Amino acid sequence: MEDRLVSASYKNEDTDIEYSLRPQSLDEYIGQQKVKEKLSIFIKAAKQRGESLDHVLLYGPPGLGKTTLANIIAKEMGGNLKITSGPAIERAGDLAAILTGLSDFDVLFIDEIHRLNRAVEEILYPAMEDNALDIVIGKGAAAKSIRLDLPKFTLIGATTRVGLLTSPLRDRFGVLSSMQFYEEEELKEIVIRSSQILGVEIKADAAYEVAKRSRGTPRIANRILKRVRDYCEVKGNGIIDVDTAKNALQLLEIDSEGFDRIDNKILEAIIDNFKGGPVGLETLSYFIGEELDTIQDVYEPYLLQKGFIVRMPRGRKATEKAYKHLKRPISK
Ligand SMILES: Nc1ncnc2c1ncn2[C@@H]1O[C@H](COP(=O)(O)OP(=O)(O)O)[C@@H](O)[C@H]1O
Ligand SMILES: [Mg+2]
Repeated sequence: MEDRLVSASYKNEDTDIEYSLRPQSLDEYIGQQKVKEKLSIFIKAAKQRGESLDHVLLYGPPGLGKTTLANIIAKEMGGNLKITSGPAIERAGDLAAILTGLSDFDVLFIDEIHRLNRAVEEILYPAMEDNALDIVIGKGAAAKSIRLDLPKFTLIGATTRVGLLTSPLRDRFGVLSSMQFYEEEELKEIVIRSSQILGVEIKADAAYEVAKRSRGTPRIANRILKRVRDYCEVKGNGIIDVDTAKNALQLLEIDSEGFDRIDNKILEAIIDNFKGGPVGLETLSYFIGEELDTIQDVYEPYLLQKGFIVRMPRGRKATEKAYKHLKRPISK
């Protein structure tokens, strides 16, 4: 799993390039038109009123640009960005320390916000609603609660599973934005922009080829581009053309749909071992030896969106498209 090239989750090899490739302003941020429009209006309005931006919840699969947006928002609001994540905040006191360390217009980004524990989450409610921190001093009958004022900050929560958020938390966000998989044309633009930053020449049809096989995900597009560039430097003449791109993709075992061995393993299992489904995700995850969370967050959304599987009450079912892709006879 760790060396899976098309995995959308963050990997160590991404650190060096992600920083330089990350768009720095809304104008540079390609695609996600709806999210962008909404945010740019709210940012303008907040700035005119001299207030902080309302709290923002971004949800969608990994690698679509949530952290990047948080960066951009902090920049536009003229504040600093503080990044943390649900599982990293263990105690209520940890969050209290983070909150009191913020300044006006700062942005606090909490990744995987659905994984905050309850005690920590309860600190967030008054912080989000009244910019206040309630602290209890003493114990038992002598316990007293005092309220501290917090700076005007914006919380940006990111999650791959909006359904797992509690409703009191979800209700406290003023802006809810669902991130969508990118269109091929948008990804192509991202690939071309990234190759300019990396200083490598890529032909338009080659950029399109990479875009088409990137599962609608900028992080994957950038990662593939980097590998294709390496391949091209060794095997080609330094300019990425469509043949070089295709050869490199073949070597990376990414097929025409952008699927790798594991996507195909999922489809094969449903068709060959479970008569096409429906089969529950847990059974499937056990059967192919991949973690349930990974299947749910990374693999399934794209297979669903591309129409290779469908969701049924009793599990997932392979579609005709899946049978055709694997060249299996369609049994009626
Ligand atoms: N809209 C976009 N335009 C250009 N590049 C993008 C865009 N969204 C994401 N990227 C690229 O993809 C990488 C992953 O994005 P990131 O914000 O870390 O995703 P997430 O936080 O949703 O997992 C970034 O480093 C950036 O280079
Ligand atoms: Mg992220």
